[in-house]
Amino acid sequence: MPAALKFGFVPFAHPNGVLVVFCEDSLKFGPATRRVLAPIDELVRRCAAADRFTGKSGTTLQILAPLALNLPRVVVVGLGKERAAKESAAKPWDLVKFGGVAMGKVPAAAGQATIFAEFGSGALKAQQVADLALGARLRAYDFDLYKTKRKDGDERAERVEVDFACSNPAAAEKAWARAMTIADGVVLARDLVNEPANVLYPGEFARRTSSLGKLGVNVEVLDVAAMKKLGMNALLGVGQGSAHESKLVVMRWNGGKRGVDPIAFIGKGVCFDTGGISIKPASGMEDMKGDMAGAACVVGLMHALAARKAKVNAVGAIGLVENMPDGKAQRPGDIVKTMSGQTIEIINTDAEGRLVLADVLHYVNKRFKPKFMINLATLTGAIIVALGQEYAGMFSNDDKLVERLTKAGEATGERVWRMPLGPEYDKMIDSKFADMKNTGGRWAGSITAAQLLQRFVDKTPWVHLDVAGTAMGSPQTDINKSWASGWGVRLLERLVEDYYER
Ligand code: BES
Ligand code: MN
Ligand code: ZN
Repeated sequence: MPAALKFGFVPFAHPNGVLVVFCEDSLKFGPATRRVLAPIDELVRRCAAADRFTGKSGTTLQILAPLALNLPRVVVVGLGKERAAKESAAKPWDLVKFGGVAMGKVPAAAGQATIFAEFGSGALKAQQVADLALGARLRAYDFDLYKTKRKDGDERAERVEVDFACSNPAAAEKAWARAMTIADGVVLARDLVNEPANVLYPGEFARRTSSLGKLGVNVEVLDVAAMKKLGMNALLGVGQGSAHESKLVVMRWNGGKRGVDPIAFIGKGVCFDTGGISIKPASGMEDMKGDMAGAACVVGLMHALAARKAKVNAVGAIGLVENMPDGKAQRPGDIVKTMSGQTIEIINTDAEGRLVLADVLHYVNKRFKPKFMINLATLTGAIIVALGQEYAGMFSNDDKLVERLTKAGEATGERVWRMPLGPEYDKMIDSKFADMKNTGGRWAGSITAAQLLQRFVDKTPWVHLDVAGTAMGSPQTDINKSWASGWGVRLLERLVEDYYER
């Protein structure tokens, strides 16, 4: 990310800096784009022919320093078949994605760019321009906090100004003010996930979350003593081998009517997961700094809701721990009593996320009686085996919520795929010594993990999203080149909007 990235919204006029325009199949440009390209009309056609560029979706054409326009570069982004004809309010993902593609073609060294917000059949609506800008903002993200030098040829502009040329700049600016709160939420989540665990341990995570206070979010931090009093021994057991104290952070945003039950979001916040005594192999263990991505998403979402003053009552709760091997660490065979009273036999200390969530889910359910609970967790490697990085695994006791999330997923491009739950799977976590055990064997690993969570949600409508594949490990998309994706912020923001405001 450049030190300063500034977006502006301007009328269609002569562009500044790198010009990015869109075209549909067979080089179909919109009217304002045709006007600006008129002086190089012949050149565009010849370049397109020479490069066999026709406007297919995802392809681009570059024209360097065209004399007649006096611009450093013109980039044509192909949209494929008649994009603008579709009602894109139902699918902002199309716009977000093309915003990302457009931004990806602006060289990092360029200080100025103009993106013509027009598709083949004409100018985009204000909301569509904002969606385009959202994609551009996310694509520009880069986590370079710890880079002290640049390689030769990797020069970057200190300040980048991107103007979106559109038909109603004032309206687009207003739509962007809202979309920007979502972008900020995603960026916040990505930053948290990208931070190394020596910097972002539970106490520091809680401290950063407290900064939501300035947006009007009520933030409570419970320490170990407070959690002991509540009987959260499953969560505490995971953190007991760490030099860093475990924390539970509860965020409340009350933008809705007083007395209306809130909706609740719960995140797994394992700041580092070594596996504990059931220690993980060395190879790839560094990725486990991202085992708090569920919690990061909840913080990003609460940021977005508060920054746009959403008319909703929402609770965010994150269980923050570090899973370490130590003389004080929990052992396989240990039995812990959860806050709900149910007991769990620890078979594998690396199945720790479900232990943390068991207590947080129960706590939130009991304290807030939410309308529904959605938890996010980088819970199992098995979900990556099943779904890769394309879909998050979705487990639920409520068909209506599943339907809403599926729809929000298609709209935002953060897609979810429902996985089964059932008594046959539930049996697999019965224990010889306690009410349940924390692993169910090799088969159906993601499902048995979800079954354990379900034992702590009672009858409350609930969804568990297993985001191990989608939240980190560079899920490469047009709007993310970073290791952390910030997955789920856009999805859940859309769900909330849909649930309350549509
Ligand atoms: N944090 C891991 C899951 C994970 C794996 C997240 C890869 C992201 C990428 C989780 O705590 C874990 O270790 N799960 C175990 C469960 C097993 C011990 C039952 C797993 O998936 O192997
Ligand atoms: Mn683990
Ligand atoms: Zn974990």
